[in-house]
Amino acid sequence: MNRMGYGRRGPSSFNKLDSALAFREMGLKNGDAFADLGCGAGDYSLYACSITGAEGKVYAVDISEDMISGLREEIRRRNLCNIIAVESDICNSIRLSDDSVDCCLLATVMHAAKLMGNDKNLFPEIMRILRPGGCLAIIECKKEETFFGPPLSMRISPEELDGAVSPYGFKKKKCVDLGYYYMMLFSY
Ligand SMILES: C[S@@+](CC[C@H](N)C(=O)[O-])C[C@H]1O[C@@H](n2cnc3c(N)ncnc32)[C@H](O)[C@@H]1O
Repeated sequence: MNRMGYGRRGPSSFNKLDSALAFREMGLKNGDAFADLGCGAGDYSLYACSITGAEGKVYAVDISEDMISGLREEIRRRNLCNIIAVESDICNSIRLSDDSVDCCLLATVMHAAKLMGNDKNLFPEIMRILRPGGCLAIIECKKEETFFGPPLSMRISPEELDGAVSPYGFKKKKCVDLGYYYMMLFSY
């Protein structure tokens, strides 16, 4: 981790919160398909592989060619077979099939990609790829001053997030405290 809080392969929130707790709360299990939307360096995706196992699948999606090629290298290095890195703009269309995913994660993407109010295609696309009964997990920085992370003006409160997501038909299940972060879980 360098001075900017970036890991070797790029910026990541993964090591700044209790990721094991986040995955337990998501309820991800062996055999599931998991989509990490805006995966960045892919730390959540690489961890998810160990949960979903050989019978499951992990789709790591990012708009950045650099992030995706770096992750593909890491996948090759670790010789993983149950993860696919997909270059795709999630605000446009997500290059995954209908009803193909049990759980979608957006980890510190909503604020970074300025998706609040620019989510016209995002949530319908997430609904399209989620299997009925699937789960949407959104991790964001708490809306408070911290020594790292985005300025307060870019941060999204749980209430604002719920207000943006619920109109699309997702139902809020719970909000999990992750220290500097929170995770909101939705079903549909
Ligand atoms: C702050 S990083 C978060 C990375 C990772 N999810 C994490 O928390 O460790 C935001 C990521 O979202 C990606 N991103 C931004 N806009 C996107 C879009 N429209 N489609 C797909 N990915 C996008 C960026 O390339 C970047 O890798």
